[in-house]
Amino acid sequence: MTQQPPAGTGLGFGALFTKHVVSARYVAGAWSGFELRAFEDLRFSPAAMVMHYGQAIFEGLKAFRSTAADEVLIFRAADCARRFDRSATRMAMPPLPAGMFVDAVRTLVEADAAEVPSAPGSSLYIRPVMVADEPSLAVRPSIEFSFLVLASPVDSFFASGRSMIDAYAQRDHIRAALGGTGDVKCAGNYAGAMAAKADAQAHNCDEVLWLDAREHRDVEEFGAMNCFVVRGEDDHAELITPGLGGTILPGHTRATVITLAGRRGLTVREEPIELSQVLDPYGPVSEVFACGTAAGVAPVHRILTDTGEERTIGDRPGPVTSLLAADYVAVTHGELEPEPDWITKIAG
Ligand SMILES: Cc1ncc(COP(=O)(O)O)c(C=O)c1O
Repeated sequence: MTQQPPAGTGLGFGALFTKHVVSARYVAGAWSGFELRAFEDLRFSPAAMVMHYGQAIFEGLKAFRSTAADEVLIFRAADCARRFDRSATRMAMPPLPAGMFVDAVRTLVEADAAEVPSAPGSSLYIRPVMVADEPSLAVRPSIEFSFLVLASPVDSFFASGRSMIDAYAQRDHIRAALGGTGDVKCAGNYAGAMAAKADAQAHNCDEVLWLDAREHRDVEEFGAMNCFVVRGEDDHAELITPGLGGTILPGHTRATVITLAGRRGLTVREEPIELSQVLDPYGPVSEVFACGTAAGVAPVHRILTDTGEERTIGDRPGPVTSLLAADYVAVTHGELEPEPDWITKIAG
């Protein structure tokens, strides 16, 4: 059901939806044009292949109200379009025609621009999705698909309203191995991660901290966010994030942070990060943060492990995390010069 979001805060994350969706269908080897429709329930055959074999991909991006002008700014839509295509190809789904992803997102945001919230921390979360909906139980790629874009006015990702993350690292589950689907955004990655998320929550943590599948030694990423650590302090501070070796989602916030850190003159290294280093209170890691579209730049408060190890990284965000979090807010709200292609402007 579409609901009118309350003004300002109290939106939660992903519980309210705007009045419209955009949709297109793929049949007989071709995509239809997309259309803007009312947000309402869909009809699927009980045999729709997505319900059996899970051929589904999605994206997540945000539109922000500009601080200065009466405009809405969609952040990194073109990059999302490219990642959506990569996900589609990996999952034996048909990429969209050139330009359709961004046009569809723009059309939805234009139609529902009045529902983009303006309170600090709030935004419009945009969710493009593609599912296999051919009615068939045959175990093979579907030949019919639906593409949809919906949108949700949101506050902060964390329902509790906490602004720092507690993360839980355990070895019972893995997220991704080389050759798998970890570097694309398919629904199955998230389905397979729910038990680990439940474990994390049972340990009073907000997020899973995933380790590498082979040795459970290196930090890979959080449940829906990439991971950075800060080594050293003041003039010697440098940022480290695991390299994109095929098991980690190439996050757009990660890429944005790398650019923003470079602008600040910080050294950024993409290299393995051992969990033991992160847990060592006497070691060089002084700050840890997570980053993703939903949460922005989110400082990590505490890390727990299944073997009972625990480290409080800090009770408040460290200086490098705070600087980059502020730069990220500024660039998404039009207060800091974006790189070319980062922002799609819509009249507010
Ligand atoms: C597994 C995973 N890693 C990282 C990210 C961060 O990606 P982005 O910054 O593009 O939102 C996400 C978010 O979608 C994710 O689901």
